[in-house]
Amino acid sequence: MPLITLPSGETVPALGQGTWTMGDSAKRRKEEIAALRLGMDLGMTLIDTAEMYASGGAEEVVGEAVAGRRDEAFLVSKVMPGNASRRGTVAACEKSLKRLKTDRIDLYLLHWPGPSPIAETVDAFTTLKRAGKIRHWGVSNFDVGEMEEVVELPDGKDVATNQVMYNLRKRGIEFDLIPWCERRRIPIMAYSPLDQGRLLRSREVEAVAARHGANPAKVALAWLLQQDGVMVIPKAGSEAHVRENHGALAVRLDARDLAELDRAFPPPAKKKPLAST
Ligand SMILES: NC(=O)c1ccc[n+]([C@@H]2O[C@H](COP(=O)([O-])OP(=O)(O)OC[C@H]3O[C@@H](n4cnc5c(N)ncnc54)[C@H](OP(=O)(O)O)[C@@H]3O)[C@@H](O)[C@H]2O)c1
Repeated sequence: MPLITLPSGETVPALGQGTWTMGDSAKRRKEEIAALRLGMDLGMTLIDTAEMYASGGAEEVVGEAVAGRRDEAFLVSKVMPGNASRRGTVAACEKSLKRLKTDRIDLYLLHWPGPSPIAETVDAFTTLKRAGKIRHWGVSNFDVGEMEEVVELPDGKDVATNQVMYNLRKRGIEFDLIPWCERRRIPIMAYSPLDQGRLLRSREVEAVAARHGANPAKVALAWLLQQDGVMVIPKAGSEAHVRENHGALAVRLDARDLAELDRAFPPPAKKKPLAST
């Protein structure tokens, strides 16, 4: 498993697992827990969730999946902007800890910029960190200007990641956000790496996959995994999908593949707003 180094020096797996929509359906719960547990067996121990997903239901699924093996996992969760005041952040974190059935969240993120001043949220993160309730903190859906604000705060240099939408079809952040983060050695966490499944139907991705005896999911993930400083968190609701996604680690895209993908999904030539859907 390739590793990504956080600014603290700690390493985490480059390929993790998302959980959006998990916990929505009681019928799928068993399969979702089995999928997450298999992912952990395969080394995809970074698990991304949020208080928002299934109104806390996804955190409960994660709590069940890591029961008895909490120390193997690197748990990421997020506070909703509406809860991200100084006191609200602490209260939201306590509730997430209960649903996750754990005493600490490894990485706690602000889900997107919202009404509370970022200085307040970061203060709360620092309080939670001192209390041992979170181990690292970061942000999500922050563009360059918002990141500038974060790093200028007294504890801003502790920001561990920015989780943003990034995949072959959503490459806008290559123009400025990725270089900005690279210069400061802040890794990014690529969400919706399969473009929520849309990339799986791309003929161009399929053509590259065929040359590798792979499938589009593996190629879409391999394209991200080949980049430095990028963590990738596909969501898979079945063991079969987890196995396929893990198989992306065995795909090495060559110059011809990358050139073809660049033609089909050109890198940005100018600044674009952050993608989120
Ligand atoms: N910070 C944010 O604002 C934010 C926003 C969105 C997402 N996220 C995080 O990022 C994670 C991933 O993003 P995402 O869930 O939006 O989209 P995604 O990972 O790009 O795609 C998930 C979709 O692809 C399907 N899939 C996964 N592996 C597959 C495979 N091997 N073959 C065929 N289909 C496959 C899944 O179906 P099955 O479920 O049937 O496997 C699901 O429908 C989320 O779960 C969440 O943790 C964060």
